[in-house]
Amino acid sequence: MSSSDNMSSLPSPPEPDKSPCPFYPNHLFVEGVCALAVFAAIVIVALVWQVPLEEIADPGDATYVPRPDWYFLFYFQLLKYFQGPLIVVGTFVLPVLVMAVLILLPFFDKGKATGIRKRPLAAAAGLAGVVSIVALTAVSVLEDESHTTKMVLPPVTEAQIAAGEKIFASFCQICHSIDGKGGFMAMAPDLTEIASRVSRARIEQIIIDPQVVSPTTIMSVIPLSEEERHNVSAYLSRKK
Ligand code: HEC
Repeated sequence: MSSSDNMSSLPSPPEPDKSPCPFYPNHLFVEGVCALAVFAAIVIVALVWQVPLEEIADPGDATYVPRPDWYFLFYFQLLKYFQGPLIVVGTFVLPVLVMAVLILLPFFDKGKATGIRKRPLAAAAGLAGVVSIVALTAVSVLEDESHTTKMVLPPVTEAQIAAGEKIFASFCQICHSIDGKGGFMAMAPDLTEIASRVSRARIEQIIIDPQVVSPTTIMSVIPLSEEERHNVSAYLSRKK
């Protein structure tokens, strides 16, 4: 029997190197191990660095700027460019297109080459995606910084606190107890630890319009000047 007869009767050996790593099980195994490693890392990071929650939501705080987490800022920024009737392009058409391209990719891109240099088109598309996400995130962060309009409250000084304490004693203490003093009308909350519950901006807002606390509140509008109001809020902002 010649060697060539022998060869043809055997199943042809797998061609080495052409497809070095079949997806199943080799590639899937590697992916599984990587996914587990990432998961373990996240668990460890979460245990080591406890992430604090933000303050309890405060509907009266007009200074709060709600923002998505940093990894969504690019999409938020993108939405700003689609206003009015075009909004559906940003909220629906583009995301669906991107998802569709990703899902259908294996069907229309059957190229076998894996090196970045051998796949200029795919590499360019991927790079363009990454660059636009980074750029949109950067623009969003910069715009946020220039736009944040905070309620301008003068910095707290000892003089303000002292003045605020006097105003509080004359106008507020009849209803609110604080540090064990006042509160003759027992139905108003004690404010000894008010600053641990409520921001200074919120205190200002409550003084301007007590109904932000409750539409039926018996707290009256006390006609304080702006300066007096800042003094009282400065005083209360130290009550933690
Ligand atoms: C007539 C009584 C009365 C006076 C005077 C009054 N308050 Fe109030 N205040 C209340 C009541 C009652 C509430 C609780 C709101 C509610 O649920 O109705 C309240 C709520 C508040 C709260 C929110 C407390 C919390 O726990 O969230 C702040 C802050 C506050 N008052 C500050 C002031 C300041 C500062 C003054 C003085 C400038 C003042 N109040 C004067 C009755 C009063």
